[in-house]
Amino acid sequence: MKDIEHESGVYHVTGEARYIDDLLVNERLLYGRVLYSKVSHGKIIACNIDAANELPGVKAILTHKDIPGPNQMGPVIHDELVLAKDRVTFIGQAIFLIAADSEEIAIEAEKLIEIKYKELPSILSIKDAIKKGKLIQPARKIETGDVDNSFSKAENIIEGELEIGGQEQWYLETQIALAMPGEGKELLVYSSTQHPSETQALIAEVMNLPKMEVEVQIRRMGGAFGGKETQANHVAIWACLLSKATGCPVKVRLFRDDDQIMTGKRHRFLMQYKAAFDKRGIIDAIHVVQHTDAGAATDLSMAILERAMMHADNAYYIPNMCIVGKAWFTNLPSNTAFRGFGGPQGMACMEQIIDRIGRMLKKDPADIRKINFYQNKKRNRTPYGQKVENNRLEPIFKTLLKTSEYKKRRTEINSFNANNEFFKKGMAFTPVKFGISFTTSFLNQAGALVHIYKDGTVLVNHGGTEMGQGLHTKIRQISAMELGIEIKNVKVNATTTAKVPNTSATAASAGTDLNGMAVKNATDKLKDRIGKRACEAFNEKLPKNGKRTKATDIRFANNTVYDLAHPKRKTAFHNAVLDAYFNQISLSATGYYKTPDIHFDRDKGKGKPYYYFAFGMAVTEILLDTLTGHFTNVRTDILHDVGDSLNLRLDIGQIEGGYIQGMGWCTTEELKWDDKGNLLNHSPDTYKIPNIQDIPKDFRVAVLKGYPNAEKTIRRSKAVAEPPLMLAFSCWLAIKDAISAVHEHQIEPMYSLPATNEVILLSIDDLKKRISL
Ligand code: MTE
Ligand code: MOS
Repeated sequence: MKDIEHESGVYHVTGEARYIDDLLVNERLLYGRVLYSKVSHGKIIACNIDAANELPGVKAILTHKDIPGPNQMGPVIHDELVLAKDRVTFIGQAIFLIAADSEEIAIEAEKLIEIKYKELPSILSIKDAIKKGKLIQPARKIETGDVDNSFSKAENIIEGELEIGGQEQWYLETQIALAMPGEGKELLVYSSTQHPSETQALIAEVMNLPKMEVEVQIRRMGGAFGGKETQANHVAIWACLLSKATGCPVKVRLFRDDDQIMTGKRHRFLMQYKAAFDKRGIIDAIHVVQHTDAGAATDLSMAILERAMMHADNAYYIPNMCIVGKAWFTNLPSNTAFRGFGGPQGMACMEQIIDRIGRMLKKDPADIRKINFYQNKKRNRTPYGQKVENNRLEPIFKTLLKTSEYKKRRTEINSFNANNEFFKKGMAFTPVKFGISFTTSFLNQAGALVHIYKDGTVLVNHGGTEMGQGLHTKIRQISAMELGIEIKNVKVNATTTAKVPNTSATAASAGTDLNGMAVKNATDKLKDRIGKRACEAFNEKLPKNGKRTKATDIRFANNTVYDLAHPKRKTAFHNAVLDAYFNQISLSATGYYKTPDIHFDRDKGKGKPYYYFAFGMAVTEILLDTLTGHFTNVRTDILHDVGDSLNLRLDIGQIEGGYIQGMGWCTTEELKWDDKGNLLNHSPDTYKIPNIQDIPKDFRVAVLKGYPNAEKTIRRSKAVAEPPLMLAFSCWLAIKDAISAVHEHQIEPMYSLPATNEVILLSIDDLKKRISL
């Protein structure tokens, strides 16, 4: 039962898996297309849609005037238009919607629409936004200790800036929705969304409908990675508008290039930092200002910034720390969630600081890390006031140091570098500590609805969504284990707002923690009912002087309901179910869960926002060609903490995938815009995501054994999803280590993220120039 395969695995490889684009609709299906702004900031001074309207096969062309409800689709703050009015604020902003008999006709229609813009000055970089003072929301601060005092008496101080790039989510299935009008006001929407309840809510608002008329359904997404947490709402809303206007089913699916141009990405950041430390390398204070590019609307930027701020410490105890967070307006698509949700950006800066301290003190950065780690009894409070409890840093560090042969390889690398002029090797050992829970505490809730049918098979509905991570597989396992039945008798239904209402996004890595517990709550109720009836049934057939069965003796296991006190009294699960049915007992139950004991006061910047932390560490060794800037990942060792794994296969998959995705962000995935705000690389030929050749030549992934989650999570498991992405800092800093070997680690190389070939070569060039000075 433990390590079963992904429930869609076979469907994925046979092509049987039904994605939204595969759904069979009727001949009335229309294709929707979105005409978007081609200027980053401007006034729309004229437009003409007459010719497009006359094109045969065109069924509707909609503008902002055709929206029944408010022209707003901002998920948290209402600062995002469904369709632009007289002004556009980024390239990719929707202006017109077209519905036509075919995609080709819709494209033809789009070409016939004329728009005249008067271009206005736009803000396209964080530095420019800072200069113009355009914050998207008020700045935030988290503070502990006395930073100024620490700096005034510090032995060593380093200061600097770190530029961190964004990242395109690159889900394989681009944004898509299919809206089907029902009778009366009904709308059934198939949406590739991580957050069906929010998609439903925003559709209802924009369409001016009560939520009960809107059902949002999703079987599975072809990947999401945060990119469909809020921005799947957009295409779903557009599809609904076109569907209502035409009375037909309408599908809107974005082409890859359009998707990359129109939708938000991981936030870029500019970090300005200053750190105080002693001669051993123990850090006493850090001041960091985190500037981020929110884009043209708030979207999730403030929550993402909050997580960046709360991860500015990564795995280290910093007694005096001040973190200021500023999200800036730019004339670019609104940036959004991406695996790690700001955490990676916050942590990158911390790792850069540690790395610099190591080089400055001529010590191995791994040793600097170790002496700064959070401790168990003291030196364990985060800047936002939460204690780091059940800390796994020490066992992970110790084990990985040994299994990765770190010290031995360090010596080998040094001698390799001494003997090679153009090739240099580099290695880095980096930790991850990641807080699990939504930092907006009330979001930490989930619901389920479990049906048992008369044949003993079980259909599980829960509020989480499947995006490839294996949530439905884990839920299926949990249900089967709780009910003591075989996995083949449990099925997880497509997620729909009609079955489980008012859910939170499947995000923050908490999908299994939350929904798994909600499902358990439902199966507990069902077991209680069926168990009570089984108990009665056993007692009805009691032999003379036989001892009565107590409800507390009933157990569910091996497809059987047992009376533990009387081993002979047992009945098959499906018989117990049928018997309950004939005795008029409900075989359907809802479940609910909320994470206990978490809270956060935003104004004070203090609280216990996380139920627990996930930990992990990685060691990466790379080989760098200093003449081309090309590097090879020679070997990566990972040890990651997933508590008691629910499914090792899935967990290893998430760890490997997270690392590789993080490596893409840290090395090759560079977003480039021209000076007009056009995204220059919006397809895989110019935007370089990792491919099979980028995988470490020797990839050793293990999970920490013998450390169940100390909190009462489902079967003492831990979230996996996001944290492994940040293990890729070991690759990023291994490259820096190799660059720095060009001059025997004497000079701090200039560096940024991603470390593209260009960044690497410029950094080497700069080193050489500084040496010759
Ligand atoms: N894994 C796959 N295959 N596809 C995805 O889209 N999204 C990631 C992660 N792993 C993703 C993935 C992100 S951003 C999150 S928050 C979690 O999965 C969400 O799922 P979970 O909470 O059920 O782990
Ligand atoms: Mo994940 S970024 O929390 O969807």
